[in-house]
Amino acid sequence: MEIKELINAAIEARENAYAPYSNFQVGAAVEGESGDIYIGCNVESASYGLTVCAERVAIWKGISRGEKRFKQIAVVVDTEELTPPCGVCRQIIWEFCGDVPVILSNLHGNTETIMMSELLPRAFDSKFLK
Ligand code: THU
Repeated sequence: MEIKELINAAIEARENAYAPYSNFQVGAAVEGESGDIYIGCNVESASYGLTVCAERVAIWKGISRGEKRFKQIAVVVDTEELTPPCGVCRQIIWEFCGDVPVILSNLHGNTETIMMSELLPRAFDSKFLK
């Protein structure tokens, strides 16, 4: 799948962000192994700590549709410096995607692709539980 397609899906998802507290709207899109795209936006709560990031919403949607793994993920935020996934999301992306490309983008069309192994080196995962 073209990177542009995934970015556009994340831009669209960002429109639905529920972020009245931070006013920081995030959109994400993941490509499942099936080739289908799943989108997510951040969803906040008046009890701030209950907030869920866009990346995890997108992954949970794919998992609940029966996807097991994902091939790439795009994250869109309207920031000058491209915004990478938070630490919690990096752990979850590693769980379900492994060492995939993470495409960062903003609304000016700036993009950068970083591999997950660069964002989360020496990750903890299921291999340590054996
Ligand atoms: N946020 C995301 O959705 N993804 C990230 O990777 C960084 C942070 C959201 C959570 C919260 O709603 C807002 O951005 C500010 O932290």
